[in-house]
Amino acid sequence: MSDSLQAMKSTPLKSTQGWITFRTDAWWVEPLLTLIILGSFGMYATWAALQGVNYQWGPYLSPFYSPNLVEWFPQWFGSWPFSPAVLILPFPLVFRATCYYYRKAYYRSFFTSPPACAVDITGQAPKSPLALLLGQGKGYTGETAFPLILQNAHRYAFYFAALFIFILGYDAIKAYVWTDGFHVGVGSLVLTINVALLGLYTFSCHSWRHLLGGCIDCFSCDKMTQVRHKAWERQSLLNEKHMQFAWASLLWVAFSDIYVRLVSSGVWTDYRLF
Ligand code: FES
Repeated sequence: MSDSLQAMKSTPLKSTQGWITFRTDAWWVEPLLTLIILGSFGMYATWAALQGVNYQWGPYLSPFYSPNLVEWFPQWFGSWPFSPAVLILPFPLVFRATCYYYRKAYYRSFFTSPPACAVDITGQAPKSPLALLLGQGKGYTGETAFPLILQNAHRYAFYFAALFIFILGYDAIKAYVWTDGFHVGVGSLVLTINVALLGLYTFSCHSWRHLLGGCIDCFSCDKMTQVRHKAWERQSLLNEKHMQFAWASLLWVAFSDIYVRLVSSGVWTDYRLF
């Protein structure tokens, strides 16, 4: 028997809020932080998307309102009575909500069944209302039954997310083009970092990794499979950091919206660096 198993055997069972575990570390910190940060982001993004104002200033455009539907398609959206963000945000929302990393994170923090590895080892802890709503209280069906089987939409959501990176890249370039020429403002850098982080998050995705190197029996068989193997290897380096990119891009995209919103409403001043 390994030392760790021996240690577990000799560790008394602990119960925290009905979750029985051998773990003695602060296992609840990670799901709690996820709950707070993801919950706060969800509330802020919903509020910001419903505003429909202060999302543009000079050449800056909030990423929540990109592409600028009113400017790009005035004939369709010129008299659109609602905030254009309600048409845009469902795409990145579905991509994030079905992300393999986020699933692990929010299943633990919002569903709490179980909230961490090796916690609730008896399976008797009360399920969260959200888990019950999704049918997880009736027996574990994983993602093989409705509604969680819809998580498989992730591979399709990836195509839209990739398209958004190009649109946000265009916005970031535009953020340097002012009516009086090329300038660098703090906002230009904020929007550039935003698309860089979102690009790292999107292209470190497991679905992209599968597209690059999946469904191949032999990597060395011909030129094409060798190229795909190289691409897959490189992407795997990014993929290892997917969780970090997920959090950094989430926080920065919210900050980008806040920045444009506060500059646009006159609360913050955008400093011109160049
Ligand atoms: S797995 Fe996270 S974005 Fe695809």
